[in-house]
Amino acid sequence: MSDAATPADLNLFDVMYNCRAMRRLDTREVPEADLLKMVDAANQAASGGNQQRGRWLIVRDPAQKKAIADLNFEVSRDFVQARIDRGEELPHHDKSTRARMLDAVLYLAEHMHTYPALIVACLEFDERPDDLAASAGSIWPGVQNLLLAARALGIGAVPTTYAINKRAEFESILDLPETIAAYALVPVGYPLGNFGSVTRRPVEEIVRFDRWS
Ligand SMILES: Cc1cc2nc3c(=O)[nH]c(=O)nc-3n(C[C@H](O)[C@H](O)[C@H](O)COP(=O)(O)O)c2cc1C
Repeated sequence: MSDAATPADLNLFDVMYNCRAMRRLDTREVPEADLLKMVDAANQAASGGNQQRGRWLIVRDPAQKKAIADLNFEVSRDFVQARIDRGEELPHHDKSTRARMLDAVLYLAEHMHTYPALIVACLEFDERPDDLAASAGSIWPGVQNLLLAARALGIGAVPTTYAINKRAEFESILDLPETIAAYALVPVGYPLGNFGSVTRRPVEEIVRFDRWS
């Protein structure tokens, strides 16, 4: 599949295999209808007990975007720079590939406020639980649907969590009531670079049949 493939050319597997984290995005506005289409797709995902507690905030107001971007910058900048400085690598990511990714994370931190929309994935509870992580499985399928829908529409997106590490500040910027908790922050916009295929470990390495040993 070529990088220039239009949404109509993409089948589901094309979308899944070409849904890279897109961190360098244009400032050009994304039509509201497409933002809503992405959230509607997110809302089709499974949730535990079909409770459908997913809530989505689309942030476009410049001051709100700046406040969120500042928080993301504050949390990620030094941490990511330190990872670049020590030449981080992984078994499946050599130093230069890793450095390119971390550079993109820094670029995102520096430019997030200029992107057309920041989508925040939340869950609404009757009463806020002490352990928010226990419910995370009911929002991440929706986040993945959101990413796939964005890719199918030719819109770049990346799931992020750095800013949410400062949960109290993050939720206060968004005026979230006690009963709504944020789980992911997804900046979206038209990509400055090309879409491309993801690079993952081969399936033979990560699967076993029947038992592990
Ligand atoms: C739970 C989770 C948290 C993430 N947090 C961040 C983040 O805070 N900042 C960021 O730039 N990317 C973040 N990412 C994106 C991952 O780094 C990205 O999905 C991964 O590197 C694979 O990228 P690729 O699809 O382009 O290969 C997060 C992804 C997940 C699933």
